Amino acid sequence: MFSLEFARVWHNVFASQLIYLIDGIEQGLCIDPQIAGDHSRCRLGGWMASVPEDIRRLPEFADLIDKHARFHGLAGELVALHGAGEHERARALCDGEFAVASQAVAGALDVLSERLSGLGRNLSPFQCAAPAERPSVWNDSLLIGIPVIDRQHKEIAGIVDQMLANRKLEINEEKAVDLLTELSAILGKHFDTEEHMMRRLPIPQEVFEAHCREHTRVLGDLVDLNLAVAAGQHQPIEQYAERLERWFIEEVVLHDLDIGRALAAVR
Ligand SMILES: [Fe+2]
Ligand SMILES: [Fe+2]
Repeated sequence: MFSLEFARVWHNVFASQLIYLIDGIEQGLCIDPQIAGDHSRCRLGGWMASVPEDIRRLPEFADLIDKHARFHGLAGELVALHGAGEHERARALCDGEFAVASQAVAGALDVLSERLSGLGRNLSPFQCAAPAERPSVWNDSLLIGIPVIDRQHKEIAGIVDQMLANRKLEINEEKAVDLLTELSAILGKHFDTEEHMMRRLPIPQEVFEAHCREHTRVLGDLVDLNLAVAAGQHQPIEQYAERLERWFIEEVVLHDLDIGRALAAVR
């Protein structure tokens, strides 16, 4: 598996949010050109700042820094053009230089990943930052533009943050049980909301079914954990929290953005 896949996902989410903005799917999106233009403010940038020094010294990493900074320079320009009502210029930039710069970041991540594999280093999004310095799981680049879903996603991310901040909690300690209860409630509500919306939108049946299967799988994972709690098993919550974080980002990027797109198409 591609060792920096998580970084690619972060980058793709950020880039697609800007494409959405230019495509006119902007409800719920609030992107400041200065923030978009700042390469240290996105999730990938935050992670890059936290990787170990020996990796930061690799030429492949320096190349990623350059390409990432160039990409954000263009992202800032894109948001500013859009804000100024210069839609044609924004579209041309989005389809031209911005798309090329975005691909270049993805390419630099591939090259770095290959180098890291050669060195036997497989960085995870969790290895680099100390828990206290971890950025929140939530990031506005995860907005899909449907307020009710975005609100629920933020709530889910808040619970994941708390689990990761208390990663050594045993699953049957009171605080962990409270978090798991809260998570069950919000996930149930959230999946109902999404499935209800998908039934009313022009989403291909196989996409709808795959998305629902993923929801069922996540609920099943949570049920298994609750059964482990009930059986008095001892284990820290961290493995589940890390799985949940990975799922959450994939859920939004690989599945929920389809709902945003489908809604935009019928508007
Ligand atoms: Fe979903
Ligand atoms: Fe979702």
